[in-house]
Amino acid sequence: MSNLRIFSGKIPINGKRLLLRVDLNVPIANSEIKDDVRIKTILPFLGELIKKKAKVVIISHLGRPKGKVVPGLSLRPIVEYLKKNLSEKVYFYNEEINEKTVKLTNKLNPGEVLILENIRFFKEEENNDEIFAKQLARLGDVFINEAFSCSHRKQASVHKITKFIESYGGPQLCKEIKSIDLIKKNKKKPVTCIIGGSKISTKINIISSLIENSDNLIIVGAMANNFLHFNGIKIGMSLMEKNVENIIKKINLIAKENNCKIFIPKDYYVSENTDGMPVYRSQHEVKDREMILDLGKNSIKSIGEIIDKSNTVFWNGPAGFFENKNFQEGTLSLASNIAKNTKSKSLISIVGGGDTIAALKNQGFENSFTHLSTAGGALLESLEGKELPAIKALRI
Ligand code: 3PG
Repeated sequence: MSNLRIFSGKIPINGKRLLLRVDLNVPIANSEIKDDVRIKTILPFLGELIKKKAKVVIISHLGRPKGKVVPGLSLRPIVEYLKKNLSEKVYFYNEEINEKTVKLTNKLNPGEVLILENIRFFKEEENNDEIFAKQLARLGDVFINEAFSCSHRKQASVHKITKFIESYGGPQLCKEIKSIDLIKKNKKKPVTCIIGGSKISTKINIISSLIENSDNLIIVGAMANNFLHFNGIKIGMSLMEKNVENIIKKINLIAKENNCKIFIPKDYYVSENTDGMPVYRSQHEVKDREMILDLGKNSIKSIGEIIDKSNTVFWNGPAGFFENKNFQEGTLSLASNIAKNTKSKSLISIVGGGDTIAALKNQGFENSFTHLSTAGGALLESLEGKELPAIKALRI
């Protein structure tokens, strides 16, 4: 943290244009926000900036539109949400970023908010384009990166932009870095990593480096299907990634070399469709038309026993298709087990990822872990020991 430029109350922002990069990448279906945890997380800081009479210009991405305008990935529903939840005026800007945008930011009254359309609609964002970053930087007098969860990306609005504007890390970003550093320094063996969810290709490579420092690797959720399939176990119609055999081979090898035990589910709840009812199956019983959608009771029990014996647990990614309440059991039992051990025997627990947080929403786990992060990929890369490029860019 020492040489990181941190935003503090001493930096004058009254009447200044404050360019704020946040992560409003939340699940939206048919213009309806399905989970607002990430939005809620930024509200207190946003409120503070408004109170201090900054002219706030917000940048965020939503999904992966790959440099094209995808109407379903517009930030408009989030703008409506913020209009309802903020006292000051909130405007939306969904045109090219040019001189006109600069003029608009200057015209804002202190305390007002302008939200730019999904920054990934511009191909220059993912290309970390220098000219684009310079143009973005002209929209503010001060830049704050409050998007830890995007800071593993070398993209214009978190990385290159810092070259052209006075830049700082925001409070949430700094909190994430501090907590992760503390955990990395204090972690105690046995260390258990639980990896789940469905964003398989982004996580699978990181697993290999995590297991070098772990005693147990528990694979759950859609991620587990790849391992089951690799082991010759029938998984029916379950979600699975193609061409990951070599990565799994590598993971198995590294695990063996590092004495890390890999656990994959031995029973499950399945259904023929994601909105169906759960049917119990033992490991070799899945039918061709069925999908694995949650952990079975024996898997839950075995995972619980591993957690009980661990002193550090890192968990990223739900254990089942939590969007359907019938398949929440595995994820909630994981959460309860980790929470119970964190409370009773000071287990060091780090829980993270947008989907994981969404799955635990309204279940009372907010203060149950050593650290609860809204970040997924960025958290994984930090735990892996990598310095995230957008954080590095904030160092003096
Ligand atoms: C996330 O959901 O983890 C962040 O918003 C980053 O999204 P990305 O993996 O598409 O860069």
